[in-house]
Amino acid sequence: MQITICDSYENMSEKAAQMIAEQINNKPDSVLGLATGSTPLGLYKMLVDMNAKKEVDFSKVISFNLDEYYPMKQSDKNSYFTYMLDNFFSQVNMERNNIHMLRGDTDNPEAECEIYEKQISDCGGIDLQILGLGNNGHIGFNEPNKIMELQTHITKLHTSTIMANSRFFNSVEDVPKYALTMGIATIFSAKKIVIMASGIEKKKIISEMFNNSVNTSIPATLLKLHNNTVLLCDHRACCDLLYC
Ligand code: GLP
Repeated sequence: MQITICDSYENMSEKAAQMIAEQINNKPDSVLGLATGSTPLGLYKMLVDMNAKKEVDFSKVISFNLDEYYPMKQSDKNSYFTYMLDNFFSQVNMERNNIHMLRGDTDNPEAECEIYEKQISDCGGIDLQILGLGNNGHIGFNEPNKIMELQTHITKLHTSTIMANSRFFNSVEDVPKYALTMGIATIFSAKKIVIMASGIEKKKIISEMFNNSVNTSIPATLLKLHNNTVLLCDHRACCDLLYC
């Protein structure tokens, strides 16, 4: 895993935006895997600015989002659908038909996941996958577990994830207990992965990630097995790596 430590959140976001722009400029019909959470907000803002300045063109880009809460209506203010629409899709020139998001309001989650997996492979797989990092080491919503699910699936959220994500909801009780998420093999099939981490809250899990061998109790350690992964972090999250 290549590690790039940036001196600020803005620089980290800018580097990620440059990587995406470079990917699209080299291959205009790139397939992007997109993440939600607080971490990539700066990245989306920069991509919106670059798109407005015509430095990057999303007209042929295809996207697949990592995950969605279950159950969750698309119109809910806490859905990842609303997040993506508000922070990115409504502000760039992406074609609606090229945007793929798991539906948290489906009656048949298993079928929804199976179709999603097929749609990804029909597009030739993901070229560049953006990931955030959960405080417990989850990627997407692949929670710490003895056995990792490989394909897109429905999963039960850990209490620690529900607690961490409750900051966006009115109360902890309002956080859905389940989610739909790409699996570990879905994520691993990406040609390139960029995992982003910022802020002091991520310092503990980053140091655990590097002080432990590959294990499913810290799903992010599995990324050490992928041959083209970059950890993009700010110095607050990665200062243990710098021994500061
Ligand atoms: C959620 C998402 C993850 C994300 C994580 C970290 O649980 N499912 O994809 O990486 O939160 O979020 P944040 O960037 O807000 O710390």
